[in-house]
Amino acid sequence: MSFKSISLCKNAVDIISKRPSSWWSHVAMGPPDAILGVTEAFKKDNNPKKINLGVGAYRDDNGKPYVLPSILKAEDKLRAKNLDKEYLPISGQADFCKLSIQLALGDDSEHVANGLNVTTQGISGTGSLRIGAAFINAFFPGPKVVYLPTPSWGNHTPIFKHSGVDVKSYAFFDPKTCGFDFQGTLNDINKMPEKSVILLHACAHNPTGVDPNFEQWKELSALIKKKNLFPFFDMAYQGFASGDCTKDAQAVRYFVKEGHCIALAQSYAKNMGLYGERAGAFSIITDNKEEAAKVMSQIKILIRPMYSNPPLHGARLVTEVLSDQALRKQWLGEVKGMADRIISVRTKLRDNLKKEGSSLNWSHITDQIGMFCFTGMKPDQVARITKDFSVFLTKDGRISMAGVTSKNVEYLAHAMHEVTK
Ligand SMILES: Cc1ncc(COP(=O)(O)O)c(C=O)c1O
Repeated sequence: MSFKSISLCKNAVDIISKRPSSWWSHVAMGPPDAILGVTEAFKKDNNPKKINLGVGAYRDDNGKPYVLPSILKAEDKLRAKNLDKEYLPISGQADFCKLSIQLALGDDSEHVANGLNVTTQGISGTGSLRIGAAFINAFFPGPKVVYLPTPSWGNHTPIFKHSGVDVKSYAFFDPKTCGFDFQGTLNDINKMPEKSVILLHACAHNPTGVDPNFEQWKELSALIKKKNLFPFFDMAYQGFASGDCTKDAQAVRYFVKEGHCIALAQSYAKNMGLYGERAGAFSIITDNKEEAAKVMSQIKILIRPMYSNPPLHGARLVTEVLSDQALRKQWLGEVKGMADRIISVRTKLRDNLKKEGSSLNWSHITDQIGMFCFTGMKPDQVARITKDFSVFLTKDGRISMAGVTSKNVEYLAHAMHEVTK
């Protein structure tokens, strides 16, 4: 070895020995996301009959992602306007915010007319919940605890915990009936300390597809008022449950009419198919206009260090669709089309299970509503349906009805019968 190469090697050894030991050697491998992990496993499977029922994104009857024609039209309209790409204000686009809260509360909402709503654009439903959680952590005048239904969407707990809000639970789903445990819910609400935060899924409860009926919502509203609890609604599926945006907002509208000063997170991921555009809104209904102005000022202070200001394109698309009467009508028809396809495929799945000869009661498949069905399949049955039939779903037995089509429903029913008989 030449003198030159010996001295180069020495330099390299010096550099390595002077470098501090790795900064991140203590970091342990985290578990994969429960839902996205299902998609990873699905991708690796070679069975041509494989079905992915894990992810909560709408598919058409050919199993393909669906871009709504009304959104394509809105995109054409935007392109023709030659708009700039400047920053939005911290609280987002004002028209978008007004149209969003009106979609939730109705065009004739007195609360909106009287300026009692504080509405900010959020990064889809998740980001809107995150703003609400941050606001509760900073300003809620009671214990920083939120009560979630059992079960709830898997991201609710991390969103609140990340924001410093503690998480507790209340009964909601009855595994014996695969339906709503109304009495259990009332009992648990009765036990909550005054001034607690209760999270309610406005419609199409995820993961169970089980919603209270309107009479039950009325009783829940009365009890929540009596107990002086703060209702925080998560409305990620407006229009997607029944096909009717007004009907799906009935609980939210009833609570507001009854005088609850609610918090509300909205998402346009599902009902406009804007999953990746991240368009959503967070609102609080306040007691008076002065309070609204102060709350808005503090929400802006919370948002600024989180992401400065929200994304532009999705909010522009929503604004085009909701503000143009013809486009809005078209969109409402398209939402109904998506909801109707899911409702029809629920019936087909139930009928096919009967045809297979299943003696089990599958009525919950058609009783449940929205994108998901909590089938009642146990973890060992889920493992078998994945291993033997390449049907992929989360361990809790939840299937995304959006992944079921007229082409795969018979195969799915056969697989479900085989593992449950
Ligand atoms: C209950 C519930 N809330 C909120 C969300 C938020 O979704 P996104 O952030 O995509 O709008 C979802 C999405 O699956 C959901 O199911």
